[in-house]
Amino acid sequence: MKFFIDTANLADIREAADLGVLDGVTTNPSLMAKEGITGKNNILKHYKAICDIVDGDISAEVNAIDFEGMVREGEELAEIDEKIVVKLPMTREGVKALKYFSEKGIKTNCTLIFSAGQALLAAKAGATYVSPFVGRLDDISTDGVALIEQIVNIYENYGYTTEVLAASIRHPMHIVQCAEVGADVMTGPLSVILALLKHPLTDLGLEKFLADYKKGNP
Ligand code: G3P
Repeated sequence: MKFFIDTANLADIREAADLGVLDGVTTNPSLMAKEGITGKNNILKHYKAICDIVDGDISAEVNAIDFEGMVREGEELAEIDEKIVVKLPMTREGVKALKYFSEKGIKTNCTLIFSAGQALLAAKAGATYVSPFVGRLDDISTDGVALIEQIVNIYENYGYTTEVLAASIRHPMHIVQCAEVGADVMTGPLSVILALLKHPLTDLGLEKFLADYKKGNP
């Protein structure tokens, strides 16, 4: 399973990269705004800074909602670095743009996926990744992990190479459950990635090992 970090915070991205388990980054307009990154030039510069830290795919989202605007913005983003993956929304115009970029050999991530039908359409349009939002489905009493499993099965039935990127990951069990059903990638905040580390028996066991070592090596 690939691990992406879902943030535009450079310190968090550096920390996850230093851990040695980071395969890529996803961002979205809300995450960029949270870091106070506004204005086209600053946004482009920020993506460049992320590309300089991480060796992997970096999803950069377009803000345009029309096909021509998406193409213009996506091409500009793709020029920053070959690590850039153009992130496009699951809309009629977004599907057309997925097809356009896939024919040009530019990687894409289709975002705001909430149903298997949407994921099927994105795969047919040649998306590199689809991003079903697990946490936001759970928020409305719908099983987000079940959607991941459904999409994984559909892609396997037809041999689609589109990767299932479980997004809107809120806690460590989401990561484990998505891994169990075969998600190719998960993207979550640093806190959730680090939460995978924790187990009280690990802490207790280490404490005892250290105490016993000290007894033998005063
Ligand atoms: O990658 C999509 C993700 O950022 C959405 O997460 O927590 O805002 O639902 P959340």
